[in-house]
Parts: sequence; structure tokens; C-alpha cells
Amino acid sequence: MPNLQPFHTFHIAAQARKIIQVQTLEQLQQAWQAAQAENLPTLILGQGSNVLFLEDFNGVVIVNRLQGITHREDEDFHYLHVNAGENWHHLVQWSLTQNIRGLENLALIPGCAGSAPIQNIGAYGVEFKDLCEYVEVLDQHRIETFRLTARQCEFGYRESIFKHRYRHGYVITAVGLKLTKNWQPILKYGSLVDFNAQTVTAKQVFDEVCRIRQSKLPNPDEWGNAGSFFKNPIVSVQQFNELKKHAEHHALEIPHYPQSDGSVKLAAGWLIDRCNLKGYRIGAAAVHEKQALVLINKGNATGAEVVALARHIRQTVAAEFGVYLQSEVRFIGQNGEVNGEQVIS
Ligand code: FAD
Ligand code: EPU
Repeated sequence: MPNLQPFHTFHIAAQARKIIQVQTLEQLQQAWQAAQAENLPTLILGQGSNVLFLEDFNGVVIVNRLQGITHREDEDFHYLHVNAGENWHHLVQWSLTQNIRGLENLALIPGCAGSAPIQNIGAYGVEFKDLCEYVEVLDQHRIETFRLTARQCEFGYRESIFKHRYRHGYVITAVGLKLTKNWQPILKYGSLVDFNAQTVTAKQVFDEVCRIRQSKLPNPDEWGNAGSFFKNPIVSVQQFNELKKHAEHHALEIPHYPQSDGSVKLAAGWLIDRCNLKGYRIGAAAVHEKQALVLINKGNATGAEVVALARHIRQTVAAEFGVYLQSEVRFIGQNGEVNGEQVIS
């Protein structure tokens, strides 16, 4: 059975019945139809940077390598049509060499361009939704593609329609980005606030984002991981006020981000860190020392060890703060995705 280890960034040992890399829509559709004919489950992967394999996958993994970027422009905007298998970070780098600005805050996010809409990737004050014009989708049963506008994608924090209505039987084949020529830097996050908005260049923002990320996020080639393991929890203002009181009692300031609907987003990494879990280990699965929201594979961790660690973290944080963390990472069982909430409860 072919080995999935090189096809996902947690680098956990797992196998699949078949792994097929596809470069064209025809190959993609053929691979899917062949699997259907054999009654085998299928799983589409980009770069596997947001998945955790719990066990061997008893089906066909289709690795999306649809390449190609086209660019057009008018007076006000650059328009990019990016095929889904393009590497996201390479796209960001390439755009800057073309003097197309706006993607720099999303530098160094692993994964494919076609995966970006699924959880509406975000970092340093920018989300994919801010740049998205449309997402192109293949309906595998009808063998037809259609486009959804950004609004139709129902983007939210680490959310979109691709985790719900278009989760099964649909593949994202391309994304359309619309980037204004009237570029304004987004400098609201961390050390980016120190830049002068009048003089800063997109390349400087890009370099600083890369620097911050490299200083705290583990390189998956060194320590297998899937980025933030949990989402940052969003709580009511009442619950936040109670947590704030609790934190103040311990002379702590709780990082928080007020949301437009009055709720408050907390930093899961801070909550985990306050439970003294940095470096905590179950088997070869561990909490990253520099960023507690990232779980790492110290060598030959199993999916079960990562799950046991995630469960322990979830229970410890809930006991200390009354907040139940939800996984951001997608859990893959032998027949396909399984409910993360249930796995770590
Ligand atoms: P995969 O992991 O291959 O797939 C993710 C899910 O989407 C799976 O369920 C898969 O079946 C499905 N899927 C993949 N491709 C398609 C397709 N074409 N059509 C339909 N379904 C598909 N995320 C952020 O938002 N912000 C960050 O700052 C960030 N930092 C990270 C840092 C590190 C070190 C790592 C390892 C991850 C980080 N992530 C971050 C998470 C990850 O980079 C994103 O979720 C990324 O978009 C995943 O892309 P992928 O191609 O690897 O998706
Ligand atoms: N913090 C700690 N200890 C830790 C980790 C964080 O105290 O171990 C504190 C930090 O000091 C800071 C706050 O928590 O005050 C937030 O930390 P950070 O800026 O590192 O960001 P994050 O909330 O942990 C989120 C995203 C990242 C994204 C960064 C930058 C989620 C789940 N994660 O992380 O996305 O890169 O912001 O915008 O929203 C991902 O999704 O995989 C991911 C890496």
C-alpha cells in the first residue's frame, strides 16, 4: 500500500490503497470515477497541511496538482485566475515580483491555492475572503464546473460553504483573486504596527510576516505539524468578562479580539500556555515550545497519540477556563473525514 507520509505535513505514518497525483481536470475526474466504480472512498489533498490521519485510509487519495496562473488587469484592479494545485506561498512570492500587492500578509501559509477558501485562510489581519472574487468548483456527479462569488462562499473565521454544503462530491478547481491597485498596507497585527503606513512596501510586510512566522511556527520538514491545531474560541462578552476577572486575579492580561457582532475571540495558544502545557508530551506527540497552539510530531507519532494529546489539552483548558476548544485540523479516518469534535471529546 502506498505511503501517505510525504503527502501531509504531520508526516504521520499512514497508508492509502492508492495515491494519484492529477495535473488535469480529466485525470481528476477519471481517478474519481475509477474509485466510484470500485466503491472506494476518495480523499482530495492539496499539500496535506491541515489534516491528521487517524489510521490507514482505505481508499484513493487524489492529490491536486492542477497548475497555472492567468493575470489580467484594468485601471483599478489585478485579476488572478489561479488553478487549485498552485502552491499558495509561491503565488504570494510571484505576485510581489509582478508588483501585484495585497497577498503579502498571507505569506508562508502552507497549502494549495485551491484549499485557501475551504477554511478561509487568515493571518496578520487578512483573510482569503478579503481578496477573493470567485471560487470555481467541479461537481463530480454532474461533471460540470460552476463559480461561486465570494459572498456565496459564506466565508467566516476558519469557515466557508466548502465545509458544509459543498463538502462531498465537489472539488475546488481554481480561485479568482481581485487585488486593488490602490494598495493600502494592513499593519494592525503584532510588530507590523511599527511600520510607517506611508512608506512601507509590500515586500517589507512580506519579509516581516515571514520573519515572525519562522520565529514561532515549526517548519513541518523538521517537526511534522498542521499549524494551529485548534481554532481560537469565540465567547460571549459575559463569559469574556468572567475570564478577564479570573485572569486579573492572577495579575494576567488576557489577549482578546472583539468581534463585530459583540462576541470576543480568545487566543487558544494563550489558554493552553497558561495551563503550563508547552512541551507536554504523549508518546511522540507534543505541544510546541514556542507556540502552544501547534502540536508537533517529534518523530514517529501516531494519529492516536496526537488525538490523546488534543483530548488532554481540551479537557485541561475546559477545567481551567470553562472553554471547550474545537479542532481546526481535519481528522481523516479509514473511510474519510470524521467529526473532530467527537474524536477529541
Ligand atoms: P489539505 O490539508 O490538503 O486539505 C485540507 C482539507 O481540504 C481536506 O479536508 C481536503 O480533503 C480538502 N481539500 C483539499 N483540496 C481540496 C480541493 N481542491 N477541493 C475540495 N476539497 C479540498 N492556516 C491559516 O488559515 N493560517 C495560517 O497562518 C496557517 N499557518 C499554518 C502554518 C503551518 C506550519 C501549517 C502546517 C499549516 C498552517 N495553516 C494555516 C493551515 C493550512 O496551511 C491551511 O489550512 C491550508 O489552506 C491547507 O491547504 P492544503 O492544500 O494543505 O490542504
Ligand atoms: N500566545 C501565548 N502563548 C502561546 C501562543 C500564543 O501566550 O504559546 C499568545 C500570544 O502572545 C498572543 C496570542 O496568544 O498574545 C495570539 O498568538 P499568535 O499571535 O501567535 O496567534 P494565534 O492566535 O495563536 C492565529 C492563527 C494563525 C495565524 C496567526 C497570525 C488561528 C487558530 N490561528 O494564531 O493561523 O497565523 O493568528 O495571524 O486562528 C493556522 O490557522 O494554522 C494558523 C497558524
